[in-house]
Amino acid sequence: MAPDRIPADQYAAPMRGILLAGGTGSRLWPMTRSVSKQLMPIYDKPMIFYPLSTLISIGIREILVITAPADQDPFARLLGDGSQWGLRLSYAVQPRPDGIAQALVIGEDFLGGRGCALILGDNLFHGMNFGSWARSDMELSGAHVLACPVARPSAYGVVEFDADGRVLTLEEKPARPRSRYAVPGLYFYDSEGAKIAKSLPRGARGEFEITALNEYYLRERSLRVTVMDRGSVWLDTGTVADLARAAEYVRVVEERQGVKIGCVEEAAWRAGLIDDAHLRRLAEPLLSSGYGDYLLRLVD
Ligand code: DAU
Repeated sequence: MAPDRIPADQYAAPMRGILLAGGTGSRLWPMTRSVSKQLMPIYDKPMIFYPLSTLISIGIREILVITAPADQDPFARLLGDGSQWGLRLSYAVQPRPDGIAQALVIGEDFLGGRGCALILGDNLFHGMNFGSWARSDMELSGAHVLACPVARPSAYGVVEFDADGRVLTLEEKPARPRSRYAVPGLYFYDSEGAKIAKSLPRGARGEFEITALNEYYLRERSLRVTVMDRGSVWLDTGTVADLARAAEYVRVVEERQGVKIGCVEEAAWRAGLIDDAHLRRLAEPLLSSGYGDYLLRLVD
């Protein structure tokens, strides 16, 4: 077993995952007129592979994929029921892009009163060691968000915190940000998440805002923030320029270091969800693109 694989007994996570991959992708039109944004390639694999492998590396194996109504079939064709990777994937539809917090309401039955990790289908994380802290969230009470320093915080949800790491304020796309820390699209909620999300009104943009849910936790329950390590990377892929940057980042790292980012098969194998023989079988149909050769190199 490779040294960095998660022992199976640490992997029985009660927490479930929601991967939100809806929206209109209008900032990428005409590319996303007939294909979901989260199926667009980021260098050598579909965008959704990146957040999916992040959820796997956190230790989550039961995941609800939420898509726009017209996109469910292509996602299901790509990902299936997840059993090929040792996962259990199910699907739900968001009729309209009414806000990120709505994902918890749509996922309420799927969660069945459990805590969850919610990840956005266009967010790419690299170099995060979730092993150390995310799994301690499995018995989470309250909510937990990340903070990542960015050059242009006003494009994001922004979190301000004090010297002891206590959250002071949260704001969605503020004109004058109170800090340079953006809140990336990976959120952890306790078992109350869906119930609270349901009770919140629409915000000024007419959407069920994720920042409003996080603010509720800050006000009424508890909200923890973890600042991402300097060496870790968060990219989102909302615009054409973001998409090109993310693809270039993945290409440079993969070519230079010979390792893949966002490789679902590898993440499942490292998590102990599939064994060497299974990984070899997954590699076979992928040999002509070179992707399969990479998988074979992992086991050889
Ligand atoms: O990327 C992190 C940021 O994501 C956070 O810092 C912000 O607080 C949060 O509001 C969000 O901001 P964006 O402007 O990036 O959100 P956007 O509307 O682009 O949606 C992000 C992803 O979620 C995108 O892939 C589409 C999907 N989505 C979004 C909405 C509003 C849905 O699937 N359904 C929705 O209703």
